[in-house]
Amino acid sequence: MHTISEYRDEFIAYLDSMRITKEPRNLYEPITYILGLGGKRLRPVLVLMTAEIFNTDFRKALDAAIAVEVFHNFSLVHDDIMDDAPVRRGKTTVHEKWDINTGILSGDAMLIMAYQLFENYEPNVFRDLAKLFSKTALEVCEGQQYDVDFETRDDVMLPEYLKMIEYKTAVLVAAALKMGAIVAGAPDEAQQQMYNFGLNLGIAFQLQDDYLDVFGDPKTFGKQVGGDIIENKKTYLYLKALNSESEVIAKELEHLYSIHPKEAEAKINAVRSIFEKTKADQATKTAIADYTAKAFEVLDDMDINPENKELLRQFGENLMNRTV
Ligand code: IPE
Ligand code: IPE
Ligand code: MG
Ligand code: MG
Ligand code: MG
Repeated sequence: MHTISEYRDEFIAYLDSMRITKEPRNLYEPITYILGLGGKRLRPVLVLMTAEIFNTDFRKALDAAIAVEVFHNFSLVHDDIMDDAPVRRGKTTVHEKWDINTGILSGDAMLIMAYQLFENYEPNVFRDLAKLFSKTALEVCEGQQYDVDFETRDDVMLPEYLKMIEYKTAVLVAAALKMGAIVAGAPDEAQQQMYNFGLNLGIAFQLQDDYLDVFGDPKTFGKQVGGDIIENKKTYLYLKALNSESEVIAKELEHLYSIHPKEAEAKINAVRSIFEKTKADQATKTAIADYTAKAFEVLDDMDINPENKELLRQFGENLMNRTV
């Protein structure tokens, strides 16, 4: 086994060895751009780690790791169009640097490139990877559609929100872990346990993303802080705050989430202070810890070497304490 940062470095070296940019440049340059902006590289690290947990050289899992990261970056390019986001990883988003059409087509090409990488595996592994990937990719689309639908709905319930984040975010984290297990030829039950671990971790991860979108440090967060508030995203914070005992606060919040002011600063500050006053911020922190604990329960039941469990646990702990 290697450390998390070693897996990340190996992944980045492999990614750099792929020469993606070719003609037409306006199709491929945005792809090189977004993939080169970095990010935490969580999903590919999980693919590589899981392969080694099941006694397979991580190098065998590199193509699957690239596939997951390319898919993830595709989803970000399109997500930034849908969310009207100006900044990603501290830099201008693809559709702002180029234009919306470029973001759409470069994103489409990335989705196809991701699939293509599975061709490097022998037929049985290819089939299992492609099957998991197709299911996951469709669920991500469903999650993204719910996310957008919820912007204009005022009757979103907590279970619907949880389903939405499971689909838009958690299933890909889960799939990354399962892919490492598939490449390693791990038994079905072990594959499923890895998937369930990832699903709970992924839900905690999106809750944390929602939290940081409001309370993150603009200097280090890498995305526009308050972006979810501007877009009236129905997050855990919002749904918890809306359940506040104070009718007045709930009405005020509902009003703030029905407007789209040109200057967003006042709205962001007002919503942030409601989240604090209603302790929705603390409720979200608790939910993040709860889903991480659920993930660790799944981990406890797994039949893998204790050192590897510790590595996965550390990974989960790091996610909970992250600031980006
Ligand atoms: C951002 O994912 C999108 C979500 C699912 C919240 P990451 O936070 O993993 O983004 P990068 O790849 O590290 O930039
Ligand atoms: C991301 O949700 C989900 C996908 C990209 C599929 P967000 O919209 O919260 O992600 P960020 O915050 O823009 O990274
Ligand atoms: Mg977004
Ligand atoms: Mg989004
Ligand atoms: Mg977000």
